[in-house]
Amino acid sequence: MEKKKLAVLIILSIAFIVVVSADYLSSQESVTSLNVISITQLPSPQLTGNLSVEQAIANRRSVRKYSNEFLTLEDVSQLLWAAQGITDSEKNLRAAPSAGQVYPLEVYVVVGTGSVSGLQEGLYHYVPQNNTLEKLLDSDIRNNLSVVADGQPWVKQAPINIIITGNYQKMLDKYKDKDLCTRFVNLEAGHVGENIYLQAESLGLVTVALGSFDENQMVGLLHLPINEKPIYIFPVGYSQS
Ligand SMILES: Cc1cc2nc3c(=O)[nH]c(=O)nc-3n(C[C@H](O)[C@H](O)[C@H](O)COP(=O)(O)O)c2cc1C
Repeated sequence: MEKKKLAVLIILSIAFIVVVSADYLSSQESVTSLNVISITQLPSPQLTGNLSVEQAIANRRSVRKYSNEFLTLEDVSQLLWAAQGITDSEKNLRAAPSAGQVYPLEVYVVVGTGSVSGLQEGLYHYVPQNNTLEKLLDSDIRNNLSVVADGQPWVKQAPINIIITGNYQKMLDKYKDKDLCTRFVNLEAGHVGENIYLQAESLGLVTVALGSFDENQMVGLLHLPINEKPIYIFPVGYSQS
């Protein structure tokens, strides 16, 4: 009789462990994948502009005051293309260089209410491969983003904020050395940042690179997948004259 009781207890314990582990694994999985609400196809990027590279570099300035003027979907598309767009579809190469062609960076856009014609407020994830935006949140989170960015007011005043995140594990899978990979990913974000500055300049827009924010709060606000860490925020808009 005692043996029977022990056997039942062991079976119940094993069943409990299996159920709890399955639940744990599925909750882990939900954090690793993005919850996409809808998809927006972006207009194709323009490969000519009105400003020379030299003029864009000479004029570039960090600007922290923006007018209420809205952006177009073309503007957003152009900025994202400059950040991470595919520039060689045969070899799958992008607008900014990447150590070992690993491409560990992800680009998100926080869009304010009435800020972009043809795009509702929300949080979007840029997919370079098919030039689309995946909508992840459908509310205007600029106020929350400003709080997380140490209260910097330009974050909530800009019509959009472009956010660069890095997947350091992706780089580590190729190069193994942690310090080297951290350096590579952060350097790559710098390249992307300068592209955003210069593309904004060419479109008559302005921006500022923001590195001051609470990393953990950013991860929570954006529901970032496991392994992704925020690196940069770029508020973008028209300069308030
Ligand atoms: C890595 C990095 C982080 C920065 N972080 C902030 C920031 O959190 N807030 C801010 O207002 N400006 C920030 N800036 C912008 C600098 O203040 C700005 O580039 C500097 O004042 C020089 O001005 P300029 O960009 O107009 O040449 C940052 C710039 C870099 C490169």
